[in-house]
Amino acid sequence: MKKILAIALALVLVLACFTGCGAKGKTLAEVKEAGKLVIATSPDFPPFENLENGEVVGIEIDILKLVCQDLGVELVIEQMDFSAVLPGVQAAKYDVGVSGITITEKRQKNMLFTQPYYEAAQVIVVKEGSPITSKADLAGKKVSAQTGTTAEEYCLEKGYAVSSFEANSDAQLALLNGNVDAWVIDNCTAKEMVELHNSEDAANPLVILSDIMTTEPYAFAFAFGSEDLVEAVDKSLDKLLADGTIQSIFDKYEYEYEAPQK
Ligand code: ARG
Repeated sequence: MKKILAIALALVLVLACFTGCGAKGKTLAEVKEAGKLVIATSPDFPPFENLENGEVVGIEIDILKLVCQDLGVELVIEQMDFSAVLPGVQAAKYDVGVSGITITEKRQKNMLFTQPYYEAAQVIVVKEGSPITSKADLAGKKVSAQTGTTAEEYCLEKGYAVSSFEANSDAQLALLNGNVDAWVIDNCTAKEMVELHNSEDAANPLVILSDIMTTEPYAFAFAFGSEDLVEAVDKSLDKLLADGTIQSIFDKYEYEYEAPQK
């Protein structure tokens, strides 16, 4: 009997390790000691992060470079699908999640967030001429969204028939192919991807509806245990927000800056 109990206990412990409980995020001292801040990002999200000639660039990369300067450490970028970013951060595999991440109450139960630095929105994208012209028209319709995003969660909650894709480009393709009726995605990335598509395929234009789904704050995510690191990054963000640096980064990428709601 004792043996069985011991085996059961061992199994529970092994499982606990696999699920990442007990994984602790780095402290500020540990990051300084390592001399680098490792960020987890899904660079399919222009203008916040995307690949340009093999290099990850974008608004959030610019912000993190400045944060790293303040911390006196090097920025190290790890690329992955969005669905791997939050679990990876939660398990403390990476120091920070940088991926246009929306703060939600559910996520706050599993990880830490900095203060928000931007107020985004979820929008609905349809083919030009679509009978869907507002949020209410989505009832009973098929929509595409990126796996693991707030867009996916919101659409599932609303009871829409959701097709989820690891890459936003595939969610867009599903709409173009007529496999879904609408595509739900964050506003800036929608603008960037729709403009690019419309310039390349003017015969099949996409439109972004003015009726938005939700507004949501973006921030950077950390594992529990990184409390003092979050505090240091928040201090850096305080400065970058107050002195207009964040605003000027949005200007550089030609996006209107929306301050987060306090
Ligand atoms: N803001 C949304 C969320 O947090 C979508 C983020 C998607 N980010 C990306 N890099 N693909 O769920």
